[in-house]
Amino acid sequence: MTTDKHTLVIGGTGKTGRRIVTRLRALGHHVRPASRTTPTPFDWENPATWDTALHGAHAIYLTPHPYNLNPAPQITNLLSRTTARVVLLSARDVPDDFGAEKAVKATTDDWTILRPTWFNQNFSEDYFKDSITAGNLTLPAGHGLQPFIDADDIADVAVTALTTDGHTGRTYDLSGPELLTFADAVTHISTATARPITYTPVPAADYLTTLTAAGINHDYATLITGLLHRIAEGGDAYLSDGVQHVLGRPARTFADYVATTWPQKTP
Ligand SMILES: NC(=O)c1ccc[n+]([C@@H]2O[C@H](COP(=O)([O-])OP(=O)(O)OC[C@H]3O[C@@H](n4cnc5c(N)ncnc54)[C@H](OP(=O)(O)O)[C@@H]3O)[C@@H](O)[C@H]2O)c1
Repeated sequence: MTTDKHTLVIGGTGKTGRRIVTRLRALGHHVRPASRTTPTPFDWENPATWDTALHGAHAIYLTPHPYNLNPAPQITNLLSRTTARVVLLSARDVPDDFGAEKAVKATTDDWTILRPTWFNQNFSEDYFKDSITAGNLTLPAGHGLQPFIDADDIADVAVTALTTDGHTGRTYDLSGPELLTFADAVTHISTATARPITYTPVPAADYLTTLTAAGINHDYATLITGLLHRIAEGGDAYLSDGVQHVLGRPARTFADYVATTWPQKTP
């Protein structure tokens, strides 16, 4: 086992985590990605895996268990084993991200909290990818506005907080630079790729029924449905300036994300 001081990236295979690993390595830092599938295994559900991952860590990027709606006890247990600086991936429009923020603040003074909105990369790497590929995205988000943020911007902010001073005790709300509907986002991708892709808004109750019929845990399905319905009601229709504040540059636009992520139509 290496004893070099390293940065532990919990969720190091995830949308933000793997970008942070790449950036830290490019800067010459020792990095240990950690998840169920990394060379150093880390499983939130198996505390016996935690100490090996924590050994020698002077800073931690902490992605909470993505499907645990009560992650606070796990976070409290983990952080009681370390004195490392912590940068927590929380979320902007979930109150205290189910107690994760409170748990971090209660166990260390050396914390920074990142609260991003919905990621651009959900369209290409996660939740919405299969629907976009199939040509229709159906969600209970209505025509509400949402400032999608790029995972590359979150990673840049996280690396800054992990490697430079002045971010302890700070909470950064992070959004993209513009308000878009899901229809706008889908149109961007459809236009760039010259493929017909539609967006269909549906009532929240219908969406919840679809998710639970697909076998998704009812509590988790209720959470996701509620967050999307909140967009329909206008609850996410505001910008946050965390990217500009921390990085001194504007956040990346959705059009820029599409241009660099999706295969473009040939002229
Ligand atoms: N996606 C968004 O739009 C969004 C917006 C705001 C906030 N967030 C927050 O971001 C966090 C990450 O969510 P995400 O959906 O974007 O996922 P993600 O970070 O792309 O992927 C989840 C990560 O967790 C790891 N993981 C899953 N189960 C695990 C377990 N039992 N033990 C250890 N690691 C485990 C996965 O790796 P392995 O599969 O290799 O274990 C992966 O690295 C969540 O807390 C969410 O609230 C997400």
